[in-house]
Amino acid sequence: MGSMEGRTILVTGASSGIGRASALALSRAGADLWITGRDEGRLEELAERIRAGGTAVRTAALDLTDFARVDELAERIGEDRAGLHGIIHSAGALGHDYVTTRDGVEMTVATHVLAPFRLTWRLAPLLCGVVESMIVTVASGGMYTERFELARLEMGPDGYDGVKAYARAKRAQVLLAHEWSRRWAHEGVRSYVMHPGWTDTPGLAVSLPTFHRLGPLLRRVDDGADTAVWLASGAAGEVGTTSGIWLDRRPRGEYYLPWTRPRRSSEVDGDELWRWCIRRNGIDVSA
Ligand SMILES: NC(=O)c1ccc[n+]([C@@H]2O[C@H](COP(=O)([O-])OP(=O)(O)OC[C@H]3O[C@@H](n4cnc5c(N)ncnc54)[C@H](OP(=O)(O)O)[C@@H]3O)[C@@H](O)[C@H]2O)c1
Repeated sequence: MGSMEGRTILVTGASSGIGRASALALSRAGADLWITGRDEGRLEELAERIRAGGTAVRTAALDLTDFARVDELAERIGEDRAGLHGIIHSAGALGHDYVTTRDGVEMTVATHVLAPFRLTWRLAPLLCGVVESMIVTVASGGMYTERFELARLEMGPDGYDGVKAYARAKRAQVLLAHEWSRRWAHEGVRSYVMHPGWTDTPGLAVSLPTFHRLGPLLRRVDDGADTAVWLASGAAGEVGTTSGIWLDRRPRGEYYLPWTRPRRSSEVDGDELWRWCIRRNGIDVSA
């Protein structure tokens, strides 16, 4: 991976796990950073460590499911002279209970689909205004168990299943990542989606303790973050921007189970998801 000096990258979910490891690796490569997470103390601790290494970093402690705060963050980044050359969407969590955000959206879909959509939408003028900008989405191999179906994406309280909600949201992330490329490639934007493999992080320990007991079989956090960082550096070129999901620096298939194959083309599903994200985010496209 080459030097990333002169590039400014936003990493969400940087207060822990894969996002934190990605931020550290990017700063070692010379990138300047915006880092976000909910826990202000852990964010500041990370920022101090990054600054000690000599690169610039700005922090934003916020819950991404608070859409007004997402807009404020985008505004702050827009006012910054450094511009923006990429985003790693790493924020994510698997919860087992049905919870809604203050905007009345189911939490899992808000965190993994609507908030990244909103943030990227607000930052698009910056991303489309520079030579080669990268969007990297950290999805999950869990998405292999679910087909994309918009009607089943946002689960309700009856029969809520957090693992299913997570897998469906992660499947939607794959579509959305490809949609960003399809719509903005001509503006110089490249969007990739990857999955880290089972990685030893605080998030895994809390959400799936049984998997976490696999201990030494789990990946080290730096290895889980490696492909996301490599993609954010632009090393992959045009490959894997409109189909596939990356693992260990190689694009892989999106479907292993026959019943998860889409009934329609990914362009049709992607367009439907795009329009839903605009509607559910309450975005005024004429503004
Ligand atoms: N670990 C694995 O094996 C694995 C496997 C497949 C996919 N993934 C994906 O990898 C990504 C990172 O997960 P991880 O394992 O590194 O977990 P982690 O250690 O729990 O880190 C998750 C990060 O996301 C942030 N976050 C969660 N919900 C948020 C919200 N509503 N608003 C703002 N920030 C939020 C957390 O912030 P705070 O800590 O400050 O609350 C934290 O910084 C996730 O998207 C996850 O789905 C992980």
